[in-house]
Amino acid sequence: MAKTLHRLILSVVVSALASIFMTAPAATADDVSPMIVGGTRASTATYPWVVYLASSSGGQFCGGTLVKANKVVTAAHCVSGRSPSNTRVVHGRDDKQSTAGTVVNVSRIWVHPSYRTATSGYDVAVLTLASNLNSATLPLATPADTALYQAGNSALILGWGTTSSGGSASRYLLKANVPLTSDATCKTAYPQYSNTSMVCAGFPQGGVDTCQGDSGGPLVFGGKLIGDTSWGRGCAAAGYPGVYGRIAPYYSVITAQL
Ligand code: ARG
Repeated sequence: MAKTLHRLILSVVVSALASIFMTAPAATADDVSPMIVGGTRASTATYPWVVYLASSSGGQFCGGTLVKANKVVTAAHCVSGRSPSNTRVVHGRDDKQSTAGTVVNVSRIWVHPSYRTATSGYDVAVLTLASNLNSATLPLATPADTALYQAGNSALILGWGTTSSGGSASRYLLKANVPLTSDATCKTAYPQYSNTSMVCAGFPQGGVDTCQGDSGGPLVFGGKLIGDTSWGRGCAAAGYPGVYGRIAPYYSVITAQL
């Protein structure tokens, strides 16, 4: 009896201490805590068109979107100056440490001819795959899709990038939803912002965002690819939304590559 009471007191004390010191549970190696930044795990079975880009030695460096059986849209800054022979597209692999899915060679890299740096726009590229992937693809937003870019629309972001600014990359595919911001909000954060080539997304208070290594990956709304992850100041910072390449204005130049 005394022993039971003793145990009870001990457990109350321990849990009280735990609630003081452990406001966030400690993350273990294969924990799935906060990611992209502020995201959760996702499966390529649900999002079959999300892919990652890797070097020939296998290291993941960016994301991308399958828009045709042999075409991937990504960011120009991910692949500008890269050789196709050192570039792979990895399809259907949630866990970078697994061998699931398919690794495809890249036969050609097209970078928007006006691309200079991510912050000046035109941050879009198309990879041609050496073989077709038997997979669902994601349609591109067209110039008629202005409604998809309405501020407040809750867009989906996906990637294998870092889970905090300056942190390490995620082992697993992660996803989150972020609201598109108005042009005025984005322009306040970034004087370089241009609504003819970019679109911003993020909560005013931050906390959820794409981050390093997510670049090139999809921003999705209304079942279409509306953006590709491009840049931002830090990641998930209040007042600094993520900036995405705006796909609709590039619809015809991209389509010409397909
Ligand atoms: N430039 C980064 C990349 O190459 C993406 C950064 C996105 N930043 C952000 N705050 N949303 O992976």
